Amino acid sequence: MRAPHPSLLSPLLACAGLFAFSAAAQSSVRPEVDAAARRVQADVVALRRDFHQHPELSNREQRTAAKVAEHLRALGLTPKTGIARHGVVAIIEGGKPGPRVALRADMDALPVTEQTGLPFASKVTTTFAGQTTGVMHACGHDAHTGILLGVADALVAMRKDLPGSVMLVFQPSEEGAPVGETGGASVMLAEGLFKDFRPDAMFGLHVFSTLPVGTIGVRQGPLMAASDRFNIVIKGRQTHGSRPWGGIDPIVAAADLVSSAQTIVSRRTDVSKLPAVVSFGSIHGGIRYNIIPDQVELVGTIRTFDEGVRAAIFKDLKNVAEHVSAAHGATAVASVPDGEGNPVTANDPALTARMRPSLEAVVGAANVVEPSLQMGAEDFSYYAREVPAMFFFVGATGPGIDPVAAPSNHSPKFLLDETALDVGLRAMLQVTLDYLHGDG
Ligand code: NI
Repeated sequence: MRAPHPSLLSPLLACAGLFAFSAAAQSSVRPEVDAAARRVQADVVALRRDFHQHPELSNREQRTAAKVAEHLRALGLTPKTGIARHGVVAIIEGGKPGPRVALRADMDALPVTEQTGLPFASKVTTTFAGQTTGVMHACGHDAHTGILLGVADALVAMRKDLPGSVMLVFQPSEEGAPVGETGGASVMLAEGLFKDFRPDAMFGLHVFSTLPVGTIGVRQGPLMAASDRFNIVIKGRQTHGSRPWGGIDPIVAAADLVSSAQTIVSRRTDVSKLPAVVSFGSIHGGIRYNIIPDQVELVGTIRTFDEGVRAAIFKDLKNVAEHVSAAHGATAVASVPDGEGNPVTANDPALTARMRPSLEAVVGAANVVEPSLQMGAEDFSYYAREVPAMFFFVGATGPGIDPVAAPSNHSPKFLLDETALDVGLRAMLQVTLDYLHGDG
């Protein structure tokens, strides 16, 4: 779709030598970033609006993946498709030797009925978990995919002078695969994403409603929580409500467990270092007011920021469930965790310290903020466990709107200010080029 602009190449070449000697990240925006951003800006907006109007749920990103692959082919790349169902990966080989960088964008949308009133709002509906629902890019992954295609376009145009290579990772199913399926980052890795191309560094971004547009949020170390589900079944023995001594009451045991489980964080976890959460989301037992049921099922979520704390909470919750139940004469079958959760998304401290000036160059030092720890999870964490990685937030809430009060990501009213596309594109490009040139 886009060939390199000959007019852009000469100033780029003039600068290339200069940057090759620079080991540190740039303190100002690279001229080629500015030129490329101006050139691809309209395209990125159009791509994002198209994805926004045609959202697809996790593991169903057929059209999105086809459009991504088609765009990459038009740029002269040879994308690999069908990774973890709908994943698309392409490599841009630079004309000069240098490091390997991977950039990731997620492509899936959510079962949310859009209420933004935008002219390109989604009207798509589907069936999810047995219910008819709208589908919406309520987390902004349409922006991520559009931005990475713009970055691809820009990098292809400067390929001849690029020291190193860049792998573009368009990932499906970040939000989690439907029940009975697997998907996302862990499956892409299991299918050999890093087998032939092990990156020296990986970068990802997320548009974020709680930050104003024009700001970028990043922090070293843990950024987003590990998210794990648990399932506990307390088995008692059914009896009449009027004769509790005739059975074993799992409801009283469950009530005791809900209270006792609160002490795992409040009494046993060192919350002075990092926060943690144990929450019950559903309790189900019984059918009638005067029948004590056979069993109660409790499900919930655990959020942590440290692998050691995560393992300790798994162990403690299982213990508390089993022993509290035993104290009531009941037994607990505790699946903690219940299936595979997302690990902690942690930014490599050295890489983040090194690349922060690149982000500052794009939006100004005062506009790079350190966000609080996010209790939400992100499956970028799987890549960050494998290679040094940095994930950053791009402010998405427009001027005049309080970001704290703005409809958040996943809301049917989540509204992305499109200036965030330009900020995200410039940030990703600057970070990538600074990294490649710094080691070149
Ligand atoms: Ni998201």
